[in-house]
Amino acid sequence: MGDGDQLAALLDEQAAFYQAVAAEYDDHALPFAGGGELAAALDAFRPTGSVLELACGPGTWTGQLLRHATDVTAVDASAGMLGIAAARVGRQRVRFVQADVFGWRPDRRYDVVFFGFWLSHVPAERFASFWSLVADCLQPDGRVFFVDDWHRTEEELIEGEGSAVIQRRLTDGTAYRIVKVPHRPEALERQLDRIGWRIKVQPTGGPFYWGSGCAKGLPDLDSPRGT
Ligand SMILES: C[S@@+](CC[C@H](N)C(=O)[O-])C[C@H]1O[C@@H](n2cnc3c(N)ncnc32)[C@H](O)[C@@H]1O
Repeated sequence: MGDGDQLAALLDEQAAFYQAVAAEYDDHALPFAGGGELAAALDAFRPTGSVLELACGPGTWTGQLLRHATDVTAVDASAGMLGIAAARVGRQRVRFVQADVFGWRPDRRYDVVFFGFWLSHVPAERFASFWSLVADCLQPDGRVFFVDDWHRTEEELIEGEGSAVIQRRLTDGTAYRIVKVPHRPEALERQLDRIGWRIKVQPTGGPFYWGSGCAKGLPDLDSPRGT
């Protein structure tokens, strides 16, 4: 099996983990304060207009998005997650889409793209193409907001600290390999800057952080340039 096949198998296993964990998702919440600061930062950002939520899960953030947005398109690979999200927030002003984010293409553009606790599950090999998808989903003046964490426990590190592959378990003990990239705010900001994004990434309490910004515009050809 080639490297690409191995990565595809890992991403399939990650999606299978979330499908299996959907019913018990809230039991796996991180035991840290700081989540409230993320919600406050999202309110301050004001995700108005048409909002795309990638990897919406059980609707953790969808209701809060709907308080600001005119409509939300919420994408997730897991039918179980989408079912819980729909039961939680209803279907008024929300379009739920079951799709693999790594293969999905938008059929329109949005004012805001939001993703909660998703970026850390995007492997390095797909980082640039994921952000290219985000760009393709946004209006020219569109904005991005995300929240995430860098937390990984010792026992999850089945390939050591240097690997992004970790192991997560269901309550019944069934183990799955998933991706968890422990981004740190300053390094993530620089990484995004290098691929054309102006995003401020802010740590909050505990292992949490949020990011907000937009794509850097095309260079202004009329402005004076050095040699
Ligand atoms: C850590 S959860 C985050 C859920 C929610 N956004 C939150 O903040 O609680 C990750 C979500 O990504 C979804 N997911 C995993 N792989 C995916 C893929 N390839 N395409 C779309 N969604 C995927 C899972 O089903 C799960 O709902």
